[in-house]
Amino acid sequence: MSTTDDTIAFRPSGPLRGNVRVPGDKSITQRALLVGAVCDGPVEIVDPVWAGDPLATAGMVTALGVAVDGLAARAPRAVVHGAGLRGLRPPAAPLDAVNSGTGMRLLAGLLAGQRGRFVLDGDASLRARPMARVVAPLRAMGARIAARDGGYAPLTIDGAELHAIRYESPVASAQVKSCVLLAGLLADGETVVVEPAPSRDHTERLLAAAGATLRRDGAEVGVRGAERLALDRVVVPGDLSSASFLVAAALLVPGSDLRISGVGLNPTRLGFCEAARRMGGAVEWTATGDDGGEPRGDLEVRASALRGITVPAAAIPALIDEVTLLALLACHAEGETVVEGVAELRAKESDRLAAIVDIVTALGGAAELQGDALVIGARVLRGGTLASRGDHRLALLGAVAGLVCPDGVTVSGFGAAAVSFPQFTDVLAEVLPS
Ligand code: S3P
Repeated sequence: MSTTDDTIAFRPSGPLRGNVRVPGDKSITQRALLVGAVCDGPVEIVDPVWAGDPLATAGMVTALGVAVDGLAARAPRAVVHGAGLRGLRPPAAPLDAVNSGTGMRLLAGLLAGQRGRFVLDGDASLRARPMARVVAPLRAMGARIAARDGGYAPLTIDGAELHAIRYESPVASAQVKSCVLLAGLLADGETVVVEPAPSRDHTERLLAAAGATLRRDGAEVGVRGAERLALDRVVVPGDLSSASFLVAAALLVPGSDLRISGVGLNPTRLGFCEAARRMGGAVEWTATGDDGGEPRGDLEVRASALRGITVPAAAIPALIDEVTLLALLACHAEGETVVEGVAELRAKESDRLAAIVDIVTALGGAAELQGDALVIGARVLRGGTLASRGDHRLALLGAVAGLVCPDGVTVSGFGAAAVSFPQFTDVLAEVLPS
């Protein structure tokens, strides 16, 4: 591995072996900060990940008048001094979600029923991502929200009385679902969200742990308006999405035999590991415990010969952040892989769908779009250069591809990886031969 500024060259360097841990889950850390902010009294967060997105969310929580002990020191334990369900105070300046779609969309839900005016803004990437998907259901609940050009940040929210709705979401999106459920805490009656397929359910698990009244039935979830929430602590498991980069590398680098301990094993996040197994990958997971409703356990991965598969659209929400890695596995598998229903990838930190096709092609592979499906041919990658496009998951994809491609991969803009996994190169060094 060689480095100049923000450009890192990743090269094949032998098998990944040993036992390693990955940093805490980004989705759960952010939810712990946001739900903690509206609990009554202090909420301890154990093992939060202080990556770019949670730091942005913690910054917004602080700006709303909620103290977060341990934030400045990026401590392994934080305490959020919850201000109560209606206790968030309007800040003088706009709230900056930076690159975090989760931070902006979930907070929009929490703020819609508060008192006062709140402005939510973000970086150029976040300003280009669709916000109409949260503005529309919130307005249906009675929220007063203005969005730039009808559907983009900055969002200006004037707190209002909310009423419950039944919302049939056109997209399977945990961010949309969570936004509406969080607003529903401040609405009268039961707010219901129905998704085309169930997305990750960390919000539901956390709200149930905090005492909210939740009803779940497949892809339908309802929450009742609440008087108060309370939580002693949230223990954050390792991030399965971060672990997946190591899983992909261990599957593809000959001789690898890796264990990743203490990882979140929420079934709504397991889609990539399940798909890798269907491809013939030796990936196993064992639950070792449960923290506040979130299962955690160990992953074991060995290098494997892979075969192409078809992944149906219904399986996408559980691997939405790992399609990049699925594409990488597919290049090194026997036969074609088809990943159906991936249009949502266009609305991520970059147009990740276009990026996957460009990157696979540039590195020597064969990828194309057929309608909403991504089709990857069995043509192994040689290597080359990759620009992260400011997208953490593309930067990390490049790093893993570099370990696998004979010519290596030089990643420019690797700093984007810090949005979710700032420790990546250190963790990798622990499992590669020295
Ligand atoms: C997230 C949900 C997913 C995922 C994102 C984090 C969350 O987005 O891609 O990285 O924390 O709720 P969508 O729910 O919009 O698909």
